[in-house]
Amino acid sequence: MSRNIIIFDTTLRDGEQVPGAKLNIQQKVEIAQQLKRLKVDIIEAGFPASSEGDFRAVQEIVRSVGDSVSITALARAVKSDIEAVYESIKLAQNPLIHIVLGTSNIHVEKKFNRSKDAVLQMGVDAVKYAKTLMPQVQYSTEDASRSDFEYLWKTIDAVVKAGATMINVPDTVGYAVPEEFGDLIRRINERLKNVDDRVVLSVHCHNDLGLATANTLQAIKNGADKAECTINGLGERAGNASLEEVVMGIKVRENYMGCSTGVNTSELLRTSRLVSHLTGLDVQVNKAITGDNAFAHSSGIHQDGLLKDKQVYEIMSPADVGAESMELILTARSGRHAFKNAVERLGFDKGGDDDFEALFGKFLALADAKKEVYDHDVFDLVLEHRSMASSPKQLFELDTFEVISNDRCPTATVALRKGDERLTGNSAGEGPIDALYSAIRAVIDLDVELKDYKIGSLSRGKEAVGRVSIRLEHDGKTYAGRAMDKDIIRASGIAFLNAVNGVVLDMQEQ
Ligand code: KIV
Ligand code: ZN
Repeated sequence: MSRNIIIFDTTLRDGEQVPGAKLNIQQKVEIAQQLKRLKVDIIEAGFPASSEGDFRAVQEIVRSVGDSVSITALARAVKSDIEAVYESIKLAQNPLIHIVLGTSNIHVEKKFNRSKDAVLQMGVDAVKYAKTLMPQVQYSTEDASRSDFEYLWKTIDAVVKAGATMINVPDTVGYAVPEEFGDLIRRINERLKNVDDRVVLSVHCHNDLGLATANTLQAIKNGADKAECTINGLGERAGNASLEEVVMGIKVRENYMGCSTGVNTSELLRTSRLVSHLTGLDVQVNKAITGDNAFAHSSGIHQDGLLKDKQVYEIMSPADVGAESMELILTARSGRHAFKNAVERLGFDKGGDDDFEALFGKFLALADAKKEVYDHDVFDLVLEHRSMASSPKQLFELDTFEVISNDRCPTATVALRKGDERLTGNSAGEGPIDALYSAIRAVIDLDVELKDYKIGSLSRGKEAVGRVSIRLEHDGKTYAGRAMDKDIIRASGIAFLNAVNGVVLDMQEQ
């Protein structure tokens, strides 16, 4: 029987540290529910000591999926962090405290300015304290790949003896190369097995040299039983090992790897799209496994080969990652039943009757405009609808607008709704979108700066619909907003307000 590799998803912790990937509590819960469908083994839900909002998000995730997925959260090696983790995850069925402390000379000398022995003792004390609260404790030796091996081992040995049940070896700065990292893991594994063979050996690789997936697979080949990864490879700087790549690497090369995972790979594409939609961070078109072109064959030679036998140019089937099953075309005539089917097949709940009618109304409007509605349109539609519906709090909506574009002085007038209030404003700008955004800014009374504006089209149907993605900065944080509409000015206004509403929700959560 092949070895089972534990898949630990840190999209909601390491992934969410990315500038611009700020998620509100409801969005985090939505991602956690999808990770449950994907059948990851452990979800790292956040860093509760970092803010009240993060603490509450971890609690909500525990409430939502903590009965069936193991939940962890991050703590530095200090009591208050460990207590915050404990308090936020204690109701989960299978909770795990995750402690991190550096082992490299740079971390010990520059970050802590203490002796190596003192830092090691901090780690041991932290584990001992965590063990008084929970039986499962993971210890991460931050910057392990740049650490002196004997000090790294001394730390691992000591924290295992103090009670750590999982040892995570991070390549924190993405410095490792596969052969060397595999060797590091093999050496640690050989010693660890002699100390306590029940302790799980784990890896956590960053992608600064584009080697995170390769390093993770090499570590697994050399004895690691657990891999930490993120959806779409999100994470600090160049990101973390991408979950979809690691999992499909193991699946497609199962014989070579000698192991497997419990992940339901047919949920991979859906999970990737959900995370991309909610974070506002696009997946590059040629991204392995989940990029738009991952299964597209354009050259004539390839197409000819594929027609003869798919295996000529395909090492995995699109259906394995949920690509083929996503394909369905609806029209305004498809009716409620077909639409309901599509909503449920995409993994969403149909909702109550009134809510479904409202959603169906939006579908009809889109189908009228676009003629052919694809699964990814339905996906975006449901997400947008749900985020408005589940936020009865005072959020901004675009009521009416008028934009005058000319080469002298473009101007815009807007009317917004916020609860029962109707707010109006106008402004000139350097172009029509700038005028629109200035008019909205004049109304919302929030200091937001536009960082990024992208416009594309959903062009697969007969009639293109504009899709606008924007990023706003407020108080040092970045918020994403997206919208689609036949009218690109309207889409631009709604995308802007969706991001503004992210700021409002975040302020309400603090
Ligand atoms: O990159 C890193 O070292 C981390 C640790 C918290 C595991 O994210
Ligand atoms: Zn990391």
